[in-house]
Amino acid sequence: MLPLKRVEQREIGDAIKFGISFLKRKGIAEPRLNAETLLAYLIGKERFTLYINEKKHLKSWQWNSYRHLLKRRGGFVPLQYLLDSVNFFGFDFVVNKKVFIPRPETEILIETALIKLKKAKGRVKVLDLGTGCGNIALSLAKLSRAEVYAIDISKSALAVAKRNSQRLRIREKRVHFLQGDCFEPLKKKRIAFQLILSSPPYIPRDRLAALSEEIKFEPKIALDGGEDGLDLFRRIIEKAHLFLGKDGYLILEMGINQSVAIKNLVKSNKSLSLKDIIPDYQGIERVAIIKNK
Ligand SMILES: C[S@@+](CC[C@H](N)C(=O)[O-])C[C@H]1O[C@@H](n2cnc3c(N)ncnc32)[C@H](O)[C@@H]1O
Repeated sequence: MLPLKRVEQREIGDAIKFGISFLKRKGIAEPRLNAETLLAYLIGKERFTLYINEKKHLKSWQWNSYRHLLKRRGGFVPLQYLLDSVNFFGFDFVVNKKVFIPRPETEILIETALIKLKKAKGRVKVLDLGTGCGNIALSLAKLSRAEVYAIDISKSALAVAKRNSQRLRIREKRVHFLQGDCFEPLKKKRIAFQLILSSPPYIPRDRLAALSEEIKFEPKIALDGGEDGLDLFRRIIEKAHLFLGKDGYLILEMGINQSVAIKNLVKSNKSLSLKDIIPDYQGIERVAIIKNK
């Protein structure tokens, strides 16, 4: 531990050094980024301003809260849960341990959906299956004229998604939140969607135990894809045509090494055809674009 001055004299520069050394010892990757981000969050300033202010003193509550956050981060609690938010497609979404933390690769779904929606005529309907904090559904509500439906099996995830909808000032009529298993909440509704998007849980069950310490803080229901990771894909691909309009698309995010299995599932379905597979920023086949025949 670094030699530290009395609590009320703690300088920002010293606090950063303290945080880096603490997180390094705990085995946290990118200790500087983590320490600086937590400190900047606590003092309500942008990270880049810390160094201009490195001689400024922290208030004692800020120092205490910072140490508390460092301790939790050192216990591998994901940074996004400590900050209560994540940026996705330029929007800030509230997240907590009841929801999966949106990943950058999921932004490909939004880019793909926006291209398809540009070509669509009139007010179309879009479904986000497994909405989590609502990042897909709400980004599309903000960036298109589509009427959006957001389903999740988790009541507490939907509560977070609704909160995000209010924070983003989306009119209530634009997004319908439905709780239930897969397409079940739509059973009694006769809706033909132009797009169905989903980033379902896709980790094979026997790999859950080997996930990083951070990922283990995320809800199991958002990760566990069944024995081979494909449970929800099977169910979505089997029933999607019943909920897609003519020329509608199913857009799915997949896990590593799942594209062959997904291609085969689509091939054996008479109502659907595979149009494209899009790689993510690391070149991993990540998003399948599937058309209703
Ligand atoms: C990997 S997370 C994706 C969350 C969010 N869409 C995103 O892109 O970050 C999967 C989501 O699917 C939900 N889910 C899991 N099984 C489901 C089911 N059978 N029916 C509906 N939603 C389900 C989980 O609660 C979780 O919110």
